[in-house]
Amino acid sequence: MTDPHFRELRLAGVSRRYGTQHALSNLDLTIKGHEFVALLGPSGCGKSTALNCLAGLLPLSDGSIHLDDRRIDTLPPEQRGFGMVFQNYALFPHMSVRKNIGFGLKMRKVPKAETAKRIDEAVRLVQLEEHQHKMPGQLSGGQQQRVAIARAVALHPPVVLMDEPLSNLDAKLRLEMRMEIRRLHQELGLTTIYVTHDQEEALSMADRLVVLRDGFMQQCGTPEQVYDFPANAYVAGFMGYRNLLELDVTGASGDTVTVRGADLALTGSNRESVTSGRAAVAAIRPEDFVVGAVDGNGIEITVEIAEYHGRELSVQAVTRTGRRIYFRTVERVAPEDSMTIGVPAHRVLVFRADGAASSAGAVSPAGAASSDGTASGEPSAAASSHPAAAAT
Ligand SMILES: Nc1ncnc2c1ncn2[C@@H]1O[C@H](COP(=O)(O)OP(=O)(O)O)[C@@H](O)[C@H]1O
Ligand SMILES: [Mg+2]
Repeated sequence: MTDPHFRELRLAGVSRRYGTQHALSNLDLTIKGHEFVALLGPSGCGKSTALNCLAGLLPLSDGSIHLDDRRIDTLPPEQRGFGMVFQNYALFPHMSVRKNIGFGLKMRKVPKAETAKRIDEAVRLVQLEEHQHKMPGQLSGGQQQRVAIARAVALHPPVVLMDEPLSNLDAKLRLEMRMEIRRLHQELGLTTIYVTHDQEEALSMADRLVVLRDGFMQQCGTPEQVYDFPANAYVAGFMGYRNLLELDVTGASGDTVTVRGADLALTGSNRESVTSGRAAVAAIRPEDFVVGAVDGNGIEITVEIAEYHGRELSVQAVTRTGRRIYFRTVERVAPEDSMTIGVPAHRVLVFRADGAASSAGAVSPAGAASSDGTASGEPSAAASSHPAAAAT
């Protein structure tokens, strides 16, 4: 078994191919002991592949994994001893809750008395005392997932790997379990690597996020860094909703950049060393717009949909050339109103066009009036970054 106390878990150039398909490419990542790291990205971006490589369930195509000075990617899963929690709880249906939790301990030939003690501890941690003698079939989905979590932590693993553990649960339970997992992480001094496609989950739980796209790491940072200072247009569009406006660069000087399209021209903040004459993406949050020009930034729009959200309106508008823009305002605007909206230059983040999210400009046509994008399985990047769900 690996030492539960370690300084760092290091992935060096970890890659995994399926035939010619690159599921994970050259991932470099150092995770500190006791850290909570979330791997975040849409379905198919390589999250589970990364987790399974860590667990030892998938061999690497390239690279290596180290726990402090020890190379571990050559070890079989049981010698790494990482705890795993999956989306489908994978409980043994014919075993009681206690037997399920103790199964891994039994396999590892932990003495009976110690096993009983660890099961007691795990049952208490996930608050299943009342249910410990039931069979999985007699439990709700949330309770079953608690059993799966208890089973993982009962092993006292150095690292716990969780793959979308909450996506089968309803919204209310997801919120509760988020806090519970974070509490367990803290109380047990775990190191947790948590896979999710849900940015809110990642932002609220993790010390650091790793944003993946098509097997490539896009950015690694604290929730604040990733949310407020996205590294490229992809992350800008993925982390909370932003309008992604495709424009041409007309001038760049220091941190300031000017961009233009047939329908609008803006001054913004140059976030990716874009240069004159190139295509760029201006990323703007709906809540950063105001009615009236600011910093010389004025966009003429016509309101299509204005949706009431209590204190403010969520508005879908269109420019003269038919470009959609979403914004929020406390002004009482109505469909067919024409007006100028503005945005401070420092809130216009300009990136290279080649890094743009596939969702650029492809927001749900229902506009402000769509449902919760996280309701059914893994949402598309467009649905998860829908403006109605953007407020955090
Ligand atoms: N066993 C497999 N054989 C072939 N391709 C696979 C296999 N497992 C995953 N893939 C592909 O690798 C990519 C990454 O998959 P995965 O890591 O499961 O993504 P995620 O967990 O982020 O949804 C996807 O394009 C997926 O189709
Ligand atoms: Mg997955």
